[in-house]
Amino acid sequence: MPISIPVHQLEQGMCLASNITNRFSVLLPHGHILSAGDIESLNRRLPAKMVQVIDPLLDQLVEFGDNSQDHNVSLEVRRNISSVTQKVSNVIRSGAALNPDNIAGMQKTIEEMIRFLQKNPVTSAIIDQSGDWNDYLQEHSANVFYLSLVIGNTIRNFIKRERERFSAARKIRDAMNLSQLATAAMLHDIGMVPLERMYNKPGSLTSEEIELVKAHPQKGAELLPDKIGPMTRLVVRCHHENHNGSGYPQGLTGDQTAIFARIVRVADAYSAATARTTYKKAKSSVRALYEMLYGDYKQFYDPMVLKVFTGIIQPFPIGARLKLQTGRFAVATKHNPKKPFAPEVLIAFDEQGESLPEEEFEGPFFLDERDDIKVVSFEDEDISYINEITEEDPACEPAEESAEEQALAYSEMFDLAFP
Ligand SMILES: [Fe+2]
Ligand SMILES: [Fe+2]
Repeated sequence: MPISIPVHQLEQGMCLASNITNRFSVLLPHGHILSAGDIESLNRRLPAKMVQVIDPLLDQLVEFGDNSQDHNVSLEVRRNISSVTQKVSNVIRSGAALNPDNIAGMQKTIEEMIRFLQKNPVTSAIIDQSGDWNDYLQEHSANVFYLSLVIGNTIRNFIKRERERFSAARKIRDAMNLSQLATAAMLHDIGMVPLERMYNKPGSLTSEEIELVKAHPQKGAELLPDKIGPMTRLVVRCHHENHNGSGYPQGLTGDQTAIFARIVRVADAYSAATARTTYKKAKSSVRALYEMLYGDYKQFYDPMVLKVFTGIIQPFPIGARLKLQTGRFAVATKHNPKKPFAPEVLIAFDEQGESLPEEEFEGPFFLDERDDIKVVSFEDEDISYINEITEEDPACEPAEESAEEQALAYSEMFDLAFP
């Protein structure tokens, strides 16, 4: 099974343990043996990418979790939804209204993807963000669709209860039907299509621009054709409402907001935070999930939805190399759905990242079973804060930013989307 290493550490002859993808297409397939040309091209095109390669020694010694199916399902869903989103956005950009054919085509793909995900349930939700700036909305919409449906499939009973409570009806016939969640998740930012240029704007927005951005949920709801159901429209309008009532446009609390909107809220925040774009650096999965769970923003999210989300987002990929306080490296061998920051690991690499002799391997063990083992960094990011996580949620201090990071500060545009 694989270890994850950055592109610049790849060597000729290494065997890929999973597909290398860019946006929604496969560049190099799983099982491919890397040539010098492949490595040169990867260094040029995807220098920041983490790649999974097979480590024959580790493979014999430890059983790794296998999440290749989760990767494939995610890619399939996001690729299909991305292409529908592009068509819808193109119609909106042209100034036309969506016609019945557009809507029928869109709904057909959405239904297919709902069925596909129900037939192929995933244990962890993986979204590899490409950082392709021009297609930010397209990629983001596909990610939010995928994450929202994975959450929705996980809490179907809760959804049924909440929908019945929200409607004040005794029973809603289709309370478990996720079509409206799926449609709303895909179209949630449709009101941003006319404002796309703002994603390219560095620095501050003017007060008029801020007002326009804040109006995008309402604008999006208005852009939806009449045929789209009222729940979808409501979710599009409410996707920036916060659980504690601090969101926009209406400042509704969680109790006043439909469960589907609360699901999209969580999926949207995570997708926006982990997206890399020209003027915004990405937060790592670790940082984004940590801030959502333990930061001040946690009051923005429905606690039940957040709890479920925590179980399906695994911030450390299988095979991730985590730097320990000793200088040695551990490799993540299995996810830990109950405690995502404490995966099962095996200490297998020395201070230089070279394989240790087998007799010096330690583990595998779950990180929370060993008080003496502290993780200090992952992919060159200081993540020592995860060692402070206790059952009582700790306060989340803002990350210290280097001068270089400050130069690539989050744009104001994104402060409105995330948290
Ligand atoms: Fe939005
Ligand atoms: Fe969004």
